[in-house]
Amino acid sequence: MERWLKLSLLLCIFGFLKEIRPSEPYVTHFLMGPWKNFTANEVYEEIYPVGTYSTLALLVVVFLVTDFLRHKPVIVADALTGVAIYSLLIWAQGIPLMQVMEVLYGGFMAGEVAYYTYIYASVDRSRYQAVSGHTRAAYLVGRCTSGVMAQVLVSTGAMDYLELNYITLASMVAATMWALLLPSTQSSIYFHRDKAILPSHEKDSLEANDAAPPERMARAFWYLRRDLVTAYTSSSVVKWSLWWALATCGFYQVLNYTQLIWEEVVQSSGQQLYNGAVEAVYTVVGACSALALSSLRLNWQLLGPPALAACALVQAAAVYTISVSQDLWLSYAAYILCLAAYQALVTIASSEIAKLLKEECFGLIFGVNMFFALALQSILTLVVITWLQIAPREQFLIYGSYFAVLGVGFVFVALYSLLKGQWRGVTLKSLWLPKEERADT
Ligand SMILES: *[C@@H]1O[C@H](CO)[C@@H](O)[C@H](O)[C@H]1NC(C)=O
Repeated sequence: MERWLKLSLLLCIFGFLKEIRPSEPYVTHFLMGPWKNFTANEVYEEIYPVGTYSTLALLVVVFLVTDFLRHKPVIVADALTGVAIYSLLIWAQGIPLMQVMEVLYGGFMAGEVAYYTYIYASVDRSRYQAVSGHTRAAYLVGRCTSGVMAQVLVSTGAMDYLELNYITLASMVAATMWALLLPSTQSSIYFHRDKAILPSHEKDSLEANDAAPPERMARAFWYLRRDLVTAYTSSSVVKWSLWWALATCGFYQVLNYTQLIWEEVVQSSGQQLYNGAVEAVYTVVGACSALALSSLRLNWQLLGPPALAACALVQAAAVYTISVSQDLWLSYAAYILCLAAYQALVTIASSEIAKLLKEECFGLIFGVNMFFALALQSILTLVVITWLQIAPREQFLIYGSYFAVLGVGFVFVALYSLLKGQWRGVTLKSLWLPKEERADT
């Protein structure tokens, strides 16, 4: 097998194992059940927000450390963090330890960057796209398997919610061991640039690895700054990044807190939860909506704002529905719709951003965009949950309004471009991109 293909396979198996977390769709139920006995208030006011804040705090650190230590140690540490998280969930009691678990969860999330940027340091750039596709597929297959497994085990009564955590823990242990098999990388994009697989004019031919550490450090930051300036002085990158961050912030907030609403419905109606099945369905629906959109070669410069407006308004409607619905299935359907719309929106935004960047900058720019999304999310969490202490259903009214405002904003952007005459002379045919106008020009 060719080296890059073997590497891709190694990475995919790791990615798959890491996504086998069947207890995750039921974590709220688990925390509020007889295993831990937390109240809803404790869960959404004292435990979950810690995860958001700590991802924000750790993201930049983990990005720099990943580049400095050249990926592999961080990938192994990330998987080990997973082991610690699920050990705490299983064996620890009390809010302080659950907060520690959330801090680790923040690190676990931030550590994803190591996995995604490993590609850029280990395979030739002509293979980036193929390997990214493989790892994405591994992620989806993992999540879907995990959701189906959780649902089947719970519905057949083979396992309870505590026992699902043992499977998750076992898969984190397996992922850690697998991570040890990954070959170390010699290079990284910023701190170990000399050996990087970059076009030759980008390399520092004069100074090799023997440059003094302070100098290497300064050089790394110089490149970092250069890539940031190049990216964010492009108004298109700024515009699409801003939209990406706004959409992601709202969506993550929905993702983090819907389980509380479902839990409330189940407690009052005595229905069974189908969160595992929903997880599997939404993974498939999300993947299909992303795939459908990325295969359409539409002119998103023109169609972007109206499409984003439609997505955001659909999300607003879906989130309002979750907020008021007492019916579990209606709530599940709205949630899946919200996810499909989010996937559509971020697929458009990500591909437009990616078209404007060099491949090796993807990790950095998406990392920075993620940072903004998390910063917004932290502000939202701080105001809505920590200060105002709004209950989950009312929170969802706020998140629904957030999407509505976003949707109306996109409507105005679309109208503005219409008024500016950008649509003059536009024919149905010109809404499609010609074949040669590819990202890699
Ligand atoms: C939770 O509450 C139930 C019922 O009151 C009790 O039997 C159980 O031991 C409690 N669990 C913990 C971990 O405190």
